[in-house]
Amino acid sequence: MDHLLQPVLPAHFAVIAGWLDSPAATLRWAGPGVPIPLPADDAFAAALALPARPGWALLDADGTCVGFGQYWQTTPGNTHLGRIIVSPQARGRGLGRVLMTALCAEAVRRTASVQLTLKVYRENQAAVALYRDLGFVASEDACTPELLFMARRTA
Ligand SMILES: CC(C)(COP(=O)(O)OP(=O)(O)OC[C@H]1O[C@@H](n2cnc3c(N)ncnc32)[C@H](O)[C@@H]1OP(=O)(O)O)[C@@H](O)C(=O)NCCC(=O)NCCS
Repeated sequence: MDHLLQPVLPAHFAVIAGWLDSPAATLRWAGPGVPIPLPADDAFAAALALPARPGWALLDADGTCVGFGQYWQTTPGNTHLGRIIVSPQARGRGLGRVLMTALCAEAVRRTASVQLTLKVYRENQAAVALYRDLGFVASEDACTPELLFMARRTA
């Protein structure tokens, strides 16, 4: 297997923080709930609430971190995915799909959820196209003019 999804380690924090190279990129990635700039040291864990919202790193064959994402259970049966990102240098090569597929599988395996949800800015065309392609559908009643709230059944 070329890529592996593993629990994020402190050694990855600075790498991931380095991908957020502007306030706009950070906001687009995670919304207004994370500090800007994102800490690159141990404060990274608290900034992303990692103990409660497990973080996962996508590693390439050399062990380099090339992607990151989190999930957290919101209600029994529902798990939310967030903070999905691929290294800017590695985008457009299928890694977003690999990351999302692995993260969804991990979330379902660990939580036995029947539904996965996520939020994405409508203007984030790459992410919206990826999520649609993976079967996520916008729940229009929960969307805002800026944000799509998307969901996918797991079975
Ligand atoms: C969204 C993101 C994770 C996609 O990662 P990626 O590795 O570039 O995506 P992939 O190469 O796996 O592409 C998978 C699909 O996504 C869509 N996609 C990817 N880049 C796209 C682009 N520039 N424009 C339109 N669609 C795009 C396509 O549907 C693509 O499928 P295809 O290759 O069969 O056409 C990446 O752009 C990213 O990290 N963005 C910044 C952080 C962010 O905005 N995260 C989302 C928070 S909700």
